[in-house]
Amino acid sequence: MQTNEMQSSEIQTNEFQVWLSERLENIENVLNSLLPTADQQPARLHQAMRYAVLGGGKRIRALLCYAAGEAAQAPLPALHVAAAALEMIHAYSLVHDDLPSMDNDDLRRGKATVHLQYDEATALLVGDALQTQAFITLSTIALPAFQQVALVRELALASGSLGMAGGQAIDLASVGIILSSTELETMHRLKTGALLQAAVRMGRLCGSNAGVVADEYDASLQQYACSIGLAFQVVDDILDATTGSAILGKTAGKDARHAKPTYVSMLGLDASRALAKELHTAAHAALAPLGPQGGRLAKLADLMVERAR
Ligand code: IPE
Ligand code: IPE
Ligand code: MG
Ligand code: MG
Ligand code: MG
Repeated sequence: MQTNEMQSSEIQTNEFQVWLSERLENIENVLNSLLPTADQQPARLHQAMRYAVLGGGKRIRALLCYAAGEAAQAPLPALHVAAAALEMIHAYSLVHDDLPSMDNDDLRRGKATVHLQYDEATALLVGDALQTQAFITLSTIALPAFQQVALVRELALASGSLGMAGGQAIDLASVGIILSSTELETMHRLKTGALLQAAVRMGRLCGSNAGVVADEYDASLQQYACSIGLAFQVVDDILDATTGSAILGKTAGKDARHAKPTYVSMLGLDASRALAKELHTAAHAALAPLGPQGGRLAKLADLMVERAR
């Protein structure tokens, strides 16, 4: 690499790191201010909601929303709201995913899971209330009504039976079963890919020219979101099999113990890593038409996939 090129890539990396820490701080503050306070009645429920959402998590969905939105000149206050709504839905999905009737996990984000720290009924209600809080939040977004409705629809579709909840249903019905590669891919795309894709799309929907469909820019973004959506769960499957609970902040090795069909159980580790790499490359290639505007999305793809090395 030439000195100039090296300097410019270092500048880009530094700029990205500064942006990353700012947005991570932003999302924490926004979530803190948008959740009911811990002393508001019913206080125990509100404390448990805050316990589930605040002070942990990589905030990947929020970051994708910010990066896609900022690339499309979306107003930052609107992106704060959309990113917070996404993280609320995601936190709800984790609380329910950990329940004894689902994955029966006791560790999440380095802390006891909500049903252990509080109780099972509270964990159910935390999920219910976070889900509605996400839509209450979106309803306050300072954008024209057509954009608001598009955002509500995007988040609802990604969370419901045709998205995350549907994928979770397939996951639970697939314990101990060998899925075909198409079935496994569908499960992963729904349970995890749908919300990650929505994160990119929602950022874009907050931006200028939202609603303009099928131009080259949107097709590229869509292709990127599709690739990283699947890559993320492939990486999650790899990490479950290869990384300790202390680093993950959640119980490692549980997919094999619970006989969950995963990319690791279907393809083995090496082929799973190769697939993650292939999807990573596809995500980068998809961003090419965006030029420098795609820079942060490219670096987020790196962050997501490089965890599994
Ligand atoms: C975990 O998601 C569940 C999956 C969809 C794989 P994350 O790995 O994004 O969890 P946090 O938010 O960082 O805790
Ligand atoms: C969960 O997938 C996907 C969700 C919708 C929450 P996993 O069950 O693999 O997530 P972890 O490994 O518990 O975080
Ligand atoms: Mg699960
Ligand atoms: Mg789980
Ligand atoms: Mg997992």
